[in-house]
Amino acid sequence: MPGLTVVPAAQRPKAPHVIGPKTKKATRPTVGIPDFLINEAKQTKPEAWNPEKHIAYEPPAKVVTMKEIGLEGHGISPVAVSDPFPLFSQEAVAQMRREIFSEPVLENCRYSSTFSANMVRGMGHERAPFTYDAWWDPTVLAKISEIAGIELVPAFDYEVANINISINDHKDPALPDGEETSAFAWHYDSFPFVCVTMVSDCTGMVGGETAIQLPSGEVRKVRGPTMGTAVVMQGRYIYHQALKAFGGRERIAMVTAFRPKSPFVPDETILTGSRPISNLDELYPQYAEYRLEVLEERFRAKLKEEKRRQVTRKRFDVADMRAFLTEQKEYIESMLEHMYEVE
Ligand SMILES: [Fe+2]
Repeated sequence: MPGLTVVPAAQRPKAPHVIGPKTKKATRPTVGIPDFLINEAKQTKPEAWNPEKHIAYEPPAKVVTMKEIGLEGHGISPVAVSDPFPLFSQEAVAQMRREIFSEPVLENCRYSSTFSANMVRGMGHERAPFTYDAWWDPTVLAKISEIAGIELVPAFDYEVANINISINDHKDPALPDGEETSAFAWHYDSFPFVCVTMVSDCTGMVGGETAIQLPSGEVRKVRGPTMGTAVVMQGRYIYHQALKAFGGRERIAMVTAFRPKSPFVPDETILTGSRPISNLDELYPQYAEYRLEVLEERFRAKLKEEKRRQVTRKRFDVADMRAFLTEQKEYIESMLEHMYEVE
């Protein structure tokens, strides 16, 4: 094994600090979901996920690199953000909406925070098998990984997926010329990569782009996704905000969080953004499990390397072993920082 990390931990810039919502524990939204969305979703006949029928992938026309936005060497891949690209068919989107607005999901999976007033999260396989199978589909993961420039997997099941729902209540005045409002404040994500998929019709909508702030202070806008299309972004390392969309009936954006598949790539996933909007009885075990697996793989590989060293009678590398242990210590420390009882 050539080394445990792509870029040695000591040489990488540390991941940015993330500020979470003011909401500290799981809170249900006060607003209801309009009947028309629930009734519409009920009209869709349930279907099982079928990659041949439900994937409508076409590669993005353009991908912005970290170098282009002044962040070369930051993060886990040279890719910053992609153009919107078609990912799911209309039928797939209808199936996802059927699950999002189904009774068991609306009863158990709705959350609200100071960042997003109306979310559906942690549907799980039982309540949303179609959405779950879609995001764990090997072809979907291969395409997303290809765009991201690194092999990715969903961070853990609870993040399949986070759905932000905003309903146009016509209270918003029309967008004054040249003026923009944000749907979200400026932030870094808690997960290395996200894939944002639009599962609503954006006809007649304006705005909804993602703004990215460059280290120079310059702000660049990238196009947001439209119905069935998706955007892949290395959000943990890019300061960004979603700009508000105007017009249209509703805006439903599905955000799936990703982490590197290889346990040997630095993983700076944190729970700042998720802890306040999750059922911790589900979130913590899933987070702990994947992290213990990562540690297991790393220690197993390191032990193998050490045994080989003994056989080949090479000198014991104190600095290398110390660097390995420091990296694992920091990984465990991060877990202690992020996993605690919430009163
Ligand atoms: Fe974000």
